[in-house]
Amino acid sequence: MSTETKPKYRSADWFGKNDKDGFGHRSWMRNQGLPGDVFDGRPVIGICNTWSELTPCNAHFRDLADHVKRGVWQAGGFPVEFPVTSLGEAVMRPTAMLFRNLASMDVEESIRANPIDGVVLLCGCDKTTPSLVMGAASCDIPELVVSGGPMLNGKYQGREIGSGTDVWHFSESVKAGAMSLKQFMEAESCMSRSAGHCMTMGTASTMASMVEALGLSLPENAAIPAVDSRRSVLAHMAGRRIVEMVAGDLRISRILRREAFENAIRVNAALGGSTNAVIHLLAIAGRVGVPLTLDDWDRLGHDCPTIVNLMPSGQYLMEDFYYAGGVPAVVRALGEHDLLHRDALTVNGQTIWENCREAPNWNPEVIRGWDRPLIEHGGIAVLRGNLAPQGAVIKPSAASPRLMRHAGRAIVFENIEDYKRRIEDPALDADENSVLVLKNCGPKGYPGMAEVGNMGLPPKLLKRGITDVVRISDARMSGTAYGTVVLHVCPEAAIGGPLAHVREGDRVELDVEHRRLHLDVPEEEIARRSAVWRPLAPPMAGGYQRLYFDHVLQADTGADLDFLTGCRGHVVMRESH
Ligand code: FES
Repeated sequence: MSTETKPKYRSADWFGKNDKDGFGHRSWMRNQGLPGDVFDGRPVIGICNTWSELTPCNAHFRDLADHVKRGVWQAGGFPVEFPVTSLGEAVMRPTAMLFRNLASMDVEESIRANPIDGVVLLCGCDKTTPSLVMGAASCDIPELVVSGGPMLNGKYQGREIGSGTDVWHFSESVKAGAMSLKQFMEAESCMSRSAGHCMTMGTASTMASMVEALGLSLPENAAIPAVDSRRSVLAHMAGRRIVEMVAGDLRISRILRREAFENAIRVNAALGGSTNAVIHLLAIAGRVGVPLTLDDWDRLGHDCPTIVNLMPSGQYLMEDFYYAGGVPAVVRALGEHDLLHRDALTVNGQTIWENCREAPNWNPEVIRGWDRPLIEHGGIAVLRGNLAPQGAVIKPSAASPRLMRHAGRAIVFENIEDYKRRIEDPALDADENSVLVLKNCGPKGYPGMAEVGNMGLPPKLLKRGITDVVRISDARMSGTAYGTVVLHVCPEAAIGGPLAHVREGDRVELDVEHRRLHLDVPEEEIARRSAVWRPLAPPMAGGYQRLYFDHVLQADTGADLDFLTGCRGHVVMRESH
């Protein structure tokens, strides 16, 4: 069992000892049919798997893990697959986001507690990507992301339909009387017709693109469809590469530098990516100590056009994006326009520019030229004002130009139940100038900051052909959603932020160009309302939800738990027996 002539990896503290502890660590592992020489000091590669039949977007991950294993064995490593909490966006209640930080703890502690020298993170559905990256970042070992890939394009009545985006369209069409319930039910089976995650530029595709832009995955990771054989090849190559990363001690902290985050923010703008990326990247940066702020999103993304023509901002879907050239083609365009830190290192040991400088664009309708963007100023606009002193966000590429500067009377919903109770009431005093305000849906308020910010419109407006009004809340919205929707208002209503003090009929002003969100009520009146405001009770007296409620940070810093920020490394001092 001597490893004296080889580099000594972390796992040697478990498997490289000739005492009772080494016996124990090796012997029980050998009940899986492993030969003794796998404990000869070779790199032990964890494959962190979020497979679950309750996370349909990740249900093909056992196959994907097998391809990673082939690559690890081939490169002389020892692969060990392990499960972590999986987060299914489509089914979890009250929202998968409530459990992102919990899953990140699971990942962090699983890596640290086990003889793992490097880890491949299998990510797919929305929250599985940030939670795995956050957890791995807090350990700081070599890490490589393999995404599960998007589903094939949805097809309904001979046309393309997109995950989420067309659910909102169909749902509103039913309310407006333009689509029958029978047609609605038919469309259900036409949308999700292969393995993989949402195939719009929703949060899953955005976060897969973010890890590629950060340099945490091999090139092309984000867009290869889940069922394309090239996804399996990528997983195989990732298995090979992680072994080399361990040998070179290429840790996640060497990749997740400030420059990498700035690149990712600009890629997000060029993609028309999800607003959820704001919260997740802030949280990841918090784990590695990079001082990223909400204002960085506005500053860095503002000059960057949206050139990727994908739903919900545009027309096409992820399958088309892959065939057009995917993230590498977008990175190349940014680099050619001086909007890229070209020297940012990536997991394959090359810089991002070395990886992408010759990336082709095969379809200028899907990935537009710089001179013909989908949206001239992409990115995320960060709004401030007396209604959001710590900031709020809006995605201009998904909003209606006519509402980007708007003032209207507020229709106020105290919580999601109040909204559901009243929104279909024909007596609701709503018109095209109304501003819908939803409170108590932030991190503490919901709890978990659910994706309810893109409130459906009152049917009485939909029937009049009105498809968008200004909506404001402390909630998030699905990356597949659209509309003039102000999100992440901070501080949230549940801790007494100004949003808590908006009342029915108040005048609210939105001015995206000047980044302003204003409640047109005298300061003295706001102070009077604040004096009589009472905080919400915690959602549960105990358990994880109470821990979350007591420790979650606000959206402007990424909604991590206060005791989870930072990197705690991978050292474990004590043996188990
Ligand atoms: Fe899993 Fe959309 S529900 S990615």
